Amino acid sequence: MMRTLPIDNNQNIQVEARSMGAEQQVEVGIAPAGKAATGQPVVIMRDLKKWYADFAVLDGIDLEVRKGERIVVCGPSGSGKSTLIRCINGLEEYQAGKLIVNGTEIGTDGSGVDIVRKETGMVFQGFHLFPHLTAMENCMLAPMRVLKKNKAQAREQAQAFLERVGMAAKANHYPSQLSGGQQQRVAIARALCMNPQIMLLDEPTSALDPEMVKEVLDVVLGLAESGITLLCVTHEMGFARQAADRVIFMDRGQIVEQASPDEFFKAPKSERAKQFLSQILH
Ligand SMILES: Nc1ncnc2c1ncn2[C@@H]1O[C@H](COP(=O)(O)OP(=O)(O)OP(=O)(O)O)[C@@H](O)[C@H]1O
Ligand SMILES: [Mg+2]
Repeated sequence: MMRTLPIDNNQNIQVEARSMGAEQQVEVGIAPAGKAATGQPVVIMRDLKKWYADFAVLDGIDLEVRKGERIVVCGPSGSGKSTLIRCINGLEEYQAGKLIVNGTEIGTDGSGVDIVRKETGMVFQGFHLFPHLTAMENCMLAPMRVLKKNKAQAREQAQAFLERVGMAAKANHYPSQLSGGQQQRVAIARALCMNPQIMLLDEPTSALDPEMVKEVLDVVLGLAESGITLLCVTHEMGFARQAADRVIFMDRGQIVEQASPDEFFKAPKSERAKQFLSQILH
């Protein structure tokens, strides 16, 4: 089903209307990727601005992400990367511009957020699992509370996604009984249990000991191959090269550069990107 939403005074963009409801099918298998070029725009930002007092944390962001596209967001600390992706599921408000996610406009007053939150999964640097719930219970909670799935459905789905991230054997462990990498894999499974259209990951590996980075990146790579729309803030440039369709480089609240990983790493255009890459690539 398609509908047309006004983007600005003289432009209309067709966006895919969201599919809602608890009857959504669970897709656990890996679907072919590479739909990026033809997908409909699922995230549309037009001149998005956010200030803290007179400090512009997002300073006029124009961004369009197509269904199935895999985006890596990078840039110096404080450049606005987390704020940008947190806006996409309404964890941050903005003050000016336009934001449409999966066909729903998120207003500057936070309208639309309840719908968008059901359709986006978020994975944080610090895992954020509920400590008093097992891995399985962490994965079952939101589908039961928000999507009104019954316990058996929620358990079956949680089991499937825990298997997908290689955590089925530890389904009954509490977060404190899991390593950082294992907790993060559970957090990814938990996000997937909401059957999100869009996955947002904010430095999913940066709180991990080096030996656990790969196990989590492998799971994110699997996600990237599944055809889901993915935006990942990361400085893991190997991951960006392997998984991203597009790298977005931010500095001081602006998107300074965006290009394919190949182009971005081989021939960054701006001085700021060159300087940034010289600091993170050795
Ligand atoms: N509540 C707040 N009040 C004032 N300034 C804030 C607040 N939250 C964030 N900022 C500022 O907004 C800017 C962008 O923050 P953000 O967390 O989006 O950066 P980032 O690119 O994700 O950085 P990092 O790589 O360190 O995670 C930073 O300069 C930060 O200090
Ligand atoms: Mg950040």
